[in-house]
Amino acid sequence: MTVRLGDIAPDFSADTTQGPIQFHKFIDGGWAVLFSHPKDYTPVCTTELGRVANLKPEFDKRGVKVIGLSVDKIDDHKGWIKDINETQRADVQFPMIADPDKKVATLYDMIHPNALDNLTVRSVFVIGPDKKIKLMLTYPASTGRNFDELLRVIDSLQLTAQYSVATPADWKQGQDCIISPAVSDDDAKKKFPKGFKAVKPYLRITPQPNV
Ligand code: BEZ
Repeated sequence: MTVRLGDIAPDFSADTTQGPIQFHKFIDGGWAVLFSHPKDYTPVCTTELGRVANLKPEFDKRGVKVIGLSVDKIDDHKGWIKDINETQRADVQFPMIADPDKKVATLYDMIHPNALDNLTVRSVFVIGPDKKIKLMLTYPASTGRNFDELLRVIDSLQLTAQYSVATPADWKQGQDCIISPAVSDDDAKKKFPKGFKAVKPYLRITPQPNV
């Protein structure tokens, strides 16, 4: 079954480097990022996992739990973490799921046979406190992900979950936002006390409401 935006993230139990988890319990009413990498002891994945480890304070600040996954075994994860810590000057403190039987990878459609026939691609799922999937990304093995972009998207997701705004292209925290088309001008005046500029009737710009 394909997982789509807005679906409840499929629940599963799994072994991780920090002990067994039940995924919905792990989410625990907060935000979560579930991301897969193709294989342990590979170069691009090593840099990615190190980057996520070094960004953990940024995920923590946003109340986001991070959890990695590949089809490797726990002992491989544990051995590789030592290499990641050494080579990326990191301290991996988030759990990594061992999925050698591909149970979770299959549930989340992380194996794309025309790309890598029995390894996971670089998938990212951002899951909200309601356990629904808010964002999905898929990258090929050859291209490491930009985790600053992931934080930027999380900022947008958390903002737009709280206010009737959307964020424009390349938006960053603190920049102007777009008022959702569903909000009338009269309601916009009440909802956005900082005011707004109607560049076109469908393109109304307002300062970020929560800064
Ligand atoms: C890598 O992380 O470098 C990688 C992993 C699987 C296939 C190709 C590259």
